Amino acid sequence: MWGDAATEYAHYCKHVTGLIRRHAKRPANTLLNIGCGGGKNVLNLKHEFNVTGLDVSSAMLEQAKALNPDCTFVQGDMRTCRLGRTFDAVMMDDAISHMNCRADFEAAFRTAYAHLNPGGVMIATPDVTIETFRQNRTTTTRATRDGLDVVFVENVYDPDPADDQYETTILYMIRDHGRLRIETEHWTMGIFSLDTWRQVLREAGFEVHEGRYDTGEDEYTVFTCVKPE
Ligand SMILES: C[S@@+](CC[C@H](N)C(=O)[O-])C[C@H]1O[C@@H](n2cnc3c(N)ncnc32)[C@H](O)[C@@H]1O
Repeated sequence: MWGDAATEYAHYCKHVTGLIRRHAKRPANTLLNIGCGGGKNVLNLKHEFNVTGLDVSSAMLEQAKALNPDCTFVQGDMRTCRLGRTFDAVMMDDAISHMNCRADFEAAFRTAYAHLNPGGVMIATPDVTIETFRQNRTTTTRATRDGLDVVFVENVYDPDPADDQYETTILYMIRDHGRLRIETEHWTMGIFSLDTWRQVLREAGFEVHEGRYDTGEDEYTVFTCVKPE
């Protein structure tokens, strides 16, 4: 229910498409969206590319398919999955934050590399890095649809800044036609410095370019990674 596909997702996807077109050393027609979730990025990217979405969750893939019946979706783990085909571009979605140790983080980028054609481009944008993390940051978002009124409170906390992990805790207050239900989620996510991102991407074999993406509220580092020809 969060994030309007036609506005905030569209803006980022336009930025990603521009970077792919600028840096690709081959025509970019096919794209693999790793960690595609509910498919809102796919909805925008499919106007420019023939898109395949990959996610580990069957529930999220169901949503992605409902939104994009014209695209291909595959269930798989970004650390180990090998589809047996390659693409002109890869977009590593914000799902990369779920890689909560260095070995998994490296494995996900090896997967991205393995699925790219030579001269192809992968785009990855860290949600958070050691440099941008804000301890105890708490955000509240509200969404309404079909008699549902949902408030989503998200808190991030890093109990040990010396390791590669932080905690995301989410509280959902769901009012279904006025009746309250409370759900919670708690995840251990991965956090790395920008220097670690640079090093891991280079060690995976990519030629790495760095830029910025500005939402008006927050600014992000964007890595445009070319697979050498
Ligand atoms: C925040 S959602 C991505 C939402 C997406 N930006 C969209 O357009 O809807 C994060 C996704 O990461 C996926 N994920 C987590 N671990 C994964 C793994 N090891 N391999 C593939 N996907 C994974 C989750 O299933 C979830 O769908």
